[in-house]
Amino acid sequence: MNLISIYDLSHAEIEAILEKGEELKKERKKGVKVRKALEGKTLALIFEKPSTRTRVSFEVAMRELGGNVISLNWNELQLGRGERIRETATVLSAYVDAVMIRAYRHSTVEEFAKYASITVINGLSDLEHPCQTLADLMTIKAYKKKLAGVKVAWVGDGNNVCNSLIGGAAITGMNMFVACPKGYEPAGEILEKAKEMGCEVVIIENAEEAAADADVLYTDVWVSMGEEEEGEKRKKVLRNYQMNEDLVSVAKKDVIVMHCMPVHIGEEITEGVMNSDNSVIFEQAENRLHTQKALLSKLLKY
Ligand code: CP
Ligand code: NVA
Repeated sequence: MNLISIYDLSHAEIEAILEKGEELKKERKKGVKVRKALEGKTLALIFEKPSTRTRVSFEVAMRELGGNVISLNWNELQLGRGERIRETATVLSAYVDAVMIRAYRHSTVEEFAKYASITVINGLSDLEHPCQTLADLMTIKAYKKKLAGVKVAWVGDGNNVCNSLIGGAAITGMNMFVACPKGYEPAGEILEKAKEMGCEVVIIENAEEAAADADVLYTDVWVSMGEEEEGEKRKKVLRNYQMNEDLVSVAKKDVIVMHCMPVHIGEEITEGVMNSDNSVIFEQAENRLHTQKALLSKLLKY
C-alpha cells in the first residue's frame, strides 16, 4: 500500500493511525522508545528539496521501530545526472522495503510509485503533504477531543499543505474554510473530491470572515519550495493574510493556532502568535514523529 495522497486512506485507517500515534507518544514519554516491529526492514528517503522535520522524524521513527533508514539527496543519486525515475524505482525496489520521496512535482511521486514494487510514501509534493495532515489531525483531535464538526480556517496560500488538510477534513468530517486571494485557491481536483465526499469547502477572500469563531486557525509560508522566483510577488499578494493577534481575536477563545513549519516570522505569522498560549505549533511538529511511526507500522508490517 502507498500513501501518495491523503485520499488513499479511509476514515477508519486514519482513526487507527491517530490512535496508534497517541499510544506510541504516551509510551515514548514514559521512556519506551525502541520496539522491534520493523526489524530487518529498510526505508529509503529521497529528497529533491530541503527538509528538517520530515527527514529527521522519518529517520528517528524508523530507528525507533527497529528498522534501518537511508537518507538520500536527489543530486547525489544518478537521478541528478538524468537517470530515469523508472529505472531508479525498479532498482531501489530490490534493495529496500519502502521509499519516502519529497519531490517538486506530484507527477514525480506518482511515476516513482508506478514503477516501484514496494511501498511509496509522499513526503511532500507541489500538490500534497499527506504525512503532515496525519500529524495535524492527531493534534486537532487531542485538543478538540473530536474531528467531525470542528471548524478549521486556513488563512493564506491554498497550497500543498492546505490541499491535504482539505482531504483530511473531507475524510473526517471537519468543516473547512479557506481565506486566500484570487488565484491562490486550493487545487481544483482536491476540492472536487472533497465535494464528492460531502465536504463543501468554503473559499473566501476575507481572512477575518473565515477565522470568525474558528476552532483551529492554520497558516503556512507564502512562498513554498520551488516558488522562489515569484517570491516577492507572492509576499505582496498575501500580505493581508497574516496570522496576527487581530486575526486570532475573532476566532473562538480556545482556538488552536497551527503551522506546519518552517515559519517565517513577520510574514505569514507574528512572533506573538507563534509563541502564544493558543499556538500548538511545536507539538504539531512533534506529532510528525508519532504519526509516522504509526504509519510505518501499518504500511510495513510483516
Ligand atoms: N513540515 C515539514 O514538512 O517540514 P520540513 O520541510 O522541515 O520537512
Ligand atoms: N508549503 C510548504 C510546506 C513546507 C513543509 C512548501 O511546500 O514549501
